[in-house]
Amino acid sequence: MAHVLSLRCRECSREYPVEPLNVCEFCFGPLEVVYDYETINRVVSRERIEAGPRSMWRYADFLPADYNPRTDINAGFTPLIRSRNLAEELGLNELYIKNDSVNPSYSFKDRVVAVASAKALEFGFKTIACASTGNLAGAVAAHAARAGMEAYVFIPADLEAGKVLGAAIYDAAIVAVDGSYDDVNRLCSELADRYPWAFVNINVRPFYADGSKTLGYEAAEQLGWRAPAHAVAPAASGAMFTKIWKGLNEFADVGLIDGPVETRMHLAQAAGCAPIAEAYADGRLIIKPVKPNSVAKSLAIGNPADGYYALKTIEASQGSAVIVAEHEVAEGAKLLARTEGIFTEAAGGVAVSALKRLAESGAIGRDESTVVYITGNGLKTVELVQDVVRPIHISASVDAFEAAVDARVS
Ligand SMILES: Cc1ncc(COP(=O)(O)O)c(C=O)c1O
Ligand SMILES: [Zn+2]
Repeated sequence: MAHVLSLRCRECSREYPVEPLNVCEFCFGPLEVVYDYETINRVVSRERIEAGPRSMWRYADFLPADYNPRTDINAGFTPLIRSRNLAEELGLNELYIKNDSVNPSYSFKDRVVAVASAKALEFGFKTIACASTGNLAGAVAAHAARAGMEAYVFIPADLEAGKVLGAAIYDAAIVAVDGSYDDVNRLCSELADRYPWAFVNINVRPFYADGSKTLGYEAAEQLGWRAPAHAVAPAASGAMFTKIWKGLNEFADVGLIDGPVETRMHLAQAAGCAPIAEAYADGRLIIKPVKPNSVAKSLAIGNPADGYYALKTIEASQGSAVIVAEHEVAEGAKLLARTEGIFTEAAGGVAVSALKRLAESGAIGRDESTVVYITGNGLKTVELVQDVVRPIHISASVDAFEAAVDARVS
């Protein structure tokens, strides 16, 4: 790939070849992909992107893997919806919902796995694997099915039923581990040294993580080639949050949108697991790991790998971090469903409640364009909102129906 030069340590800048590596041998810093922006700049244009596929692969010039139809299940290019009702309720004039819950496996994780699975094939792997808080499991299993690869998916044993089924259906091996995501991740790091597998979020993490840049590109393109004034996104490891910012800045760097990017990046976490947002609140750049206890299981990473970089993104963008109370997670999901007809999972509930706080406090001004990222589908976490299930139960007669309606209205 002419536009991918190498991997580089984010801490000591030592360079590495483009291989399945994620940690610097010298300082243990994380590696990231180095791009040749001159090459990218020479080929990209708005017209070229607009003529591309209606998927995240329209941004292939910025991605670290070649498009491969073998793994492609059409991730990305999800709707950016102009909000009316929620916007009105929150007193905002220009609110957009990036509805990534309609991806092929119903979360934004299809974006990162689209890149990771294509890269895994390129590297010659036959098996892909992951440590997941739930949504990654489904994305890995679905892409593996499409590619004819074997999949091993490691999850904490207490995940929601919809998340487990939503991965198992693709015939992946689901390994439910006693412990938290952080325990699962530790185990997988050990396994990655022993097995010749592409652990998408471990040994191919630098490639995987850049799939989330497309969340920044898409929002900018769908806004008519401009960056929003504010972006609100949930965080677990913090990787996606940093890559939205990176995507917006790359677009400005190659002249696809005006720069400098002035988007304020707002990070959202739930109180039961908020190590990044707590560091922000304390004015620290150092993450203190926590033991997660949250209904937002998809965000339950107590020791977030990209927490420090997420804090740097907040700093660079003059953004903020919001901690929403545990009861606000379901409330946010219900608010979005009631006002916009979009059923999101717990992570989306966290994002919507954070948005509400930001609007109410004035941190987001009435006329400032705002994108809220809805990253997963509500049908995967029905446990969260089960209290809304109140069917009107009747016998099969018109009288019974009308009596029930009367009772409901009165
Ligand atoms: C639905 C959803 N949104 C957001 C995130 C956060 O992603 P990251 O770990 O990149 O911060 C996750 C992580 O699993 C997720 O499942
Ligand atoms: Zn290093």
